[in-house]
Amino acid sequence: MANTVCSCSFLLSLLCFTFFSSSSTASTQADILLSFKASIVDSKNSLSSWSNTSTVHYCNWTGVTCVNAPSLSVTSLNLQNLNLSGEISSSICQLSGLTHLNLADNFFNQPIPLHLSQCTSLETLNLSNNLIWGTIPDQISHFGSLKVVDLSRNHVEGNIPENIGSLVNLQVLNLGGNLLSGSVPFVFGNFSELVILDLSLNAYLVSEIPSDIGKLEMLEQLLLQSSGFHGEIPGSFAGLQSLTILDISQNNLTGEIPQALGSSLKNLVSFDVSQNKLLGSFPDGICNAKGLINLSLHKNFFTGSIPNSIDECLNLERFQVQNNDFSGDFPEKLWSLPRIKLIRAENNRYSGELPDSISMAAQLEQVQIDNNSFTSKIPKGLGLVKSLYRFSASLNGFYGELPPNFCDSPVMSIMNLSQNSISGHIPELKKCRKLVSLSLADNSLTGEIPPSLAELPVLTYLDLSDNNLTGLIPPGLQNLKLALFNVSFNQLSGKVPSSLISGLPASFLQGNPGLCGPGLLNSCSEDQPKHHTSGLTTLTCAMISVAFALGIVMIGVGFFMFHSYSKRKSQAGGWRSVFFYPLRVTEHELVIGMNEKSAVGSGGPFGRVYILSLPSGELVAIKKLVNFRCNSSKTLKTEVKTLVKIRHKNITKVLGFFHSDESIFLIYEFIQNGSLGDLICRQDFQLQWTVRLRIAIGVAQGLAYLHRDYVPHLLHRNVKSNNILLDADFEPKLTDFALDRITGEAAFESTVVSESALSCYNAPEYAYSKKATEQMDVYSFGVVLLELVTGRQAEQAESADSVDIVKWVRRKINITNGAFQVLDSKISNSSQQEMVGALEIALCCTSVMPEKRPSMFEVVRALQSLSPRTSLLNSGFSPLEEHSIPV
Ligand SMILES: *[C@@H]1O[C@H](CO)[C@@H](O)[C@H](O)[C@H]1NC(C)=O
Ligand SMILES: *[C@@H]1O[C@H](CO)[C@@H](O)[C@H](O)[C@H]1NC(C)=O
Ligand SMILES: *[C@@H]1O[C@H](CO)[C@@H](O)[C@H](O)[C@H]1NC(C)=O
Ligand SMILES: *[C@@H]1O[C@H](CO)[C@@H](O)[C@H](O)[C@H]1NC(C)=O
Ligand SMILES: *[C@@H]1O[C@H](CO)[C@@H](O)[C@H](O)[C@H]1NC(C)=O
Ligand SMILES: *[C@@H]1O[C@H](CO)[C@@H](O)[C@H](O)[C@H]1NC(C)=O
Ligand SMILES: *[C@@H]1O[C@H](CO)[C@@H](O)[C@H](O)[C@H]1NC(C)=O
Ligand SMILES: *[C@@H]1O[C@H](CO)[C@@H](O)[C@H](O)[C@H]1NC(C)=O
Ligand SMILES: *[C@@H]1O[C@H](CO)[C@@H](O)[C@H](O)[C@H]1NC(C)=O
Repeated sequence: MANTVCSCSFLLSLLCFTFFSSSSTASTQADILLSFKASIVDSKNSLSSWSNTSTVHYCNWTGVTCVNAPSLSVTSLNLQNLNLSGEISSSICQLSGLTHLNLADNFFNQPIPLHLSQCTSLETLNLSNNLIWGTIPDQISHFGSLKVVDLSRNHVEGNIPENIGSLVNLQVLNLGGNLLSGSVPFVFGNFSELVILDLSLNAYLVSEIPSDIGKLEMLEQLLLQSSGFHGEIPGSFAGLQSLTILDISQNNLTGEIPQALGSSLKNLVSFDVSQNKLLGSFPDGICNAKGLINLSLHKNFFTGSIPNSIDECLNLERFQVQNNDFSGDFPEKLWSLPRIKLIRAENNRYSGELPDSISMAAQLEQVQIDNNSFTSKIPKGLGLVKSLYRFSASLNGFYGELPPNFCDSPVMSIMNLSQNSISGHIPELKKCRKLVSLSLADNSLTGEIPPSLAELPVLTYLDLSDNNLTGLIPPGLQNLKLALFNVSFNQLSGKVPSSLISGLPASFLQGNPGLCGPGLLNSCSEDQPKHHTSGLTTLTCAMISVAFALGIVMIGVGFFMFHSYSKRKSQAGGWRSVFFYPLRVTEHELVIGMNEKSAVGSGGPFGRVYILSLPSGELVAIKKLVNFRCNSSKTLKTEVKTLVKIRHKNITKVLGFFHSDESIFLIYEFIQNGSLGDLICRQDFQLQWTVRLRIAIGVAQGLAYLHRDYVPHLLHRNVKSNNILLDADFEPKLTDFALDRITGEAAFESTVVSESALSCYNAPEYAYSKKATEQMDVYSFGVVLLELVTGRQAEQAESADSVDIVKWVRRKINITNGAFQVLDSKISNSSQQEMVGALEIALCCTSVMPEKRPSMFEVVRALQSLSPRTSLLNSGFSPLEEHSIPV
């Protein structure tokens, strides 16, 4: 509320008012406003200042404007976007001075309020973007005094009545975005004052364009786009002397553009006839309109060539003639117009050259001239255009070598020169750090793939197929998150970097007889695969679900006393055991119990998991680690104790262990609900978002505890959804953690690491970095989080186009610039904001650069603060506009 000083001085001024103006007028106007308010539903209480107890003068009430001549009177009500609904009462017409009523962007749900015709002074009625329904009645003629009528974006239906022709004072008529139907009457010639006419976005209008519109000499904007207009463009349009914007795109118009239009509309700024069925030739003389900024003729059937007079369009910014049948030489002058930003001419039959003078197009952002007959070299000038972010010229006759600077624009994002005749080497690309997509497919390029490509941080699509490239595939390319990497049909040779093999369809490598690697026709001679089961096979869902194996432990046992473990030594079978929990069995009995019946799955990296029932009825899971030489019994005990002492609700408890000379058995608590991986790979996977988020937070807390809180600090080193077990309440528990402590680094490397070398849970640096790091766990966690957000398995069963989940998500997001595509559609929309938040976190965690990943501690905090978030994903790439990248 206003402070006291303010309201005091206001009272004084009110006294003055009362003095000089008739007090009865003052009270009536406030009463009229209050009675208008009485029929309105004001759910957000936006009109709280409108009150007879308020100290605010009614002229200062929300949305009210007064003039004080000759007497104080309300002239304008501006109540747009206040979430108002209810009824628009004619009581407002008692305000005899009201000229302007704007109720746009509210929820008024009623027919056109004809009773407002009682407002004798009303000039502007704006009801845009409400829920107005019904037809335009003949009585619309009662609005004869109106100058501005805006009924756009409502549900007004039916024919436009002839009587509308009596609104002879109209300056603005906007009926766009409604459900009007039928044919437009021949009465618009009556609107001699009309400046703006908008009938756009009325899909049910089926009408010719009334030719009398051509009489409207004051008309500046004619907007008829995306409606059902058919027939020809009236020749009378040549009379629209004041026209600046003509948009008749996306209709069913036929015939030619009247040639007179080109030269007579001298004030045109924007001329859009695109997406019709027009034919004939380019509107010659259109550049008589010196101020022309937008020229769109695309998607029609135009033929012939573009006249050279186009160079008079000095202000032209957007030139779009794509998808026609234009031919002849493309006018060179167009390439160097001072303001030109966009040139689209793809899918025509243009010939001609791309001149070096393109360097003068200092504003040029986007060029698409694919599928024409241009024949020239790629000019050096191209690399000098610093604003260019898309250059797409596939399917032409470009030849010669690529200039070393061809991709030097610092904002270059999409470069497509495929299907030309370019020869020579691919230059080093270093400056275009925003390059997302590079296609040079189907040319005659020779030489090697430049290793510097691996330094372009956001490169995601790389197509070099069908050339004559030689040499190795640079190993650095593994560091990129490539969603498409196609080098098929070249002369490449040598070993294919492993993550490129696993992440992409084999067809992208074919046609290079010299390439070798697992899964290819040649396996490299010096590098025989160690495990016969191919990496891909182990990725199948079924195998994974069995291999999780760590089924694991003990229902009903609250906590156990760490210090009351029993310690036995049984020299007989060579077994030595340490139990940290009263198991009341001998290791001998356990070994006997471990048979085919109790085994789960066919074995993980080290060996199998068995589920055994203790005499007490409790279940335990025993993991058998086979085939490696034990450390000394003493060291082993110390290390197992390190794991046993871990106390965290999100980490599976180790209850004890026993070992012989060649095997170690770890005894874990049994966890009831199986693994998260099992759940996700089920056809009917369904889990509420709140549960998923709780699982993510639990896992993150468990990892944060291992990384930072527990001493000694531990790494998990095998985070994946199959190693996240769920108890009866879906509380997650990490298992299979820190096994390197028990087996020793060497044995761990030769089993777990080599077994999972191809796994997509592994961070990219896994391939070349010898040292395990926290950031690798963070990456793997990010992959699990992606599984929770998308409802998709990280590793799909082998199939021709299987792409790992990180690449899949990044590809979807890059193409659409939006996150909603990848969210699990089985979860209701109300959770979308939180899911997008979780997606952002997952993308940070799976960042290619380890140093960009957050710590698990930061991840916990970010996940916990998710609920009230609203921020949208911002992928940080250059604008790709609406065009998807051809993959
Ligand atoms: C806005 O109005 C609509 C319809 O009258 C209502 O459902 C909604 O709750 C309102 N929003 C607010 C914030 O008051
Ligand atoms: C104020 O308006 C309310 C209803 O809107 C009415 O009941 C009350 O009598 C009015 N008070 C004055 C002082 O006019
Ligand atoms: C309305 O408010 C303005 C400033 O907010 C103030 O200057 C003016 O005196 C007020 N008018 C009346 C009639 O209260
Ligand atoms: C009607 O109001 C909307 C919302 O404020 C505005 O965008 C539109 O320009 C107005 N229409 C006219 C004709 O002024
Ligand atoms: C056009 O306006 C004239 C007056 O200027 C009026 O007599 C005539 O009826 C109007 N035409 C239509 C179709 O309303
Ligand atoms: C264009 O006309 C054809 C038939 O001639 C019709 O099928 C189609 O729906 C029309 N399109 C539009 C946008 O009105
Ligand atoms: C020109 O086209 C662009 C993109 O369609 C648009 O944003 C701009 O408003 C247009 N300019 C005019 C004057 O219509
Ligand atoms: C190339 O353009 C022609 C029209 O000029 C069209 O018919 C053809 O389908 C286009 N080719 C491709 C591959 O888009
Ligand atoms: C590409 O290599 C093939 C096979 O060596 C050869 O036949 C062809 O002429 C080469 N093409 C070019 C353009 O170098």
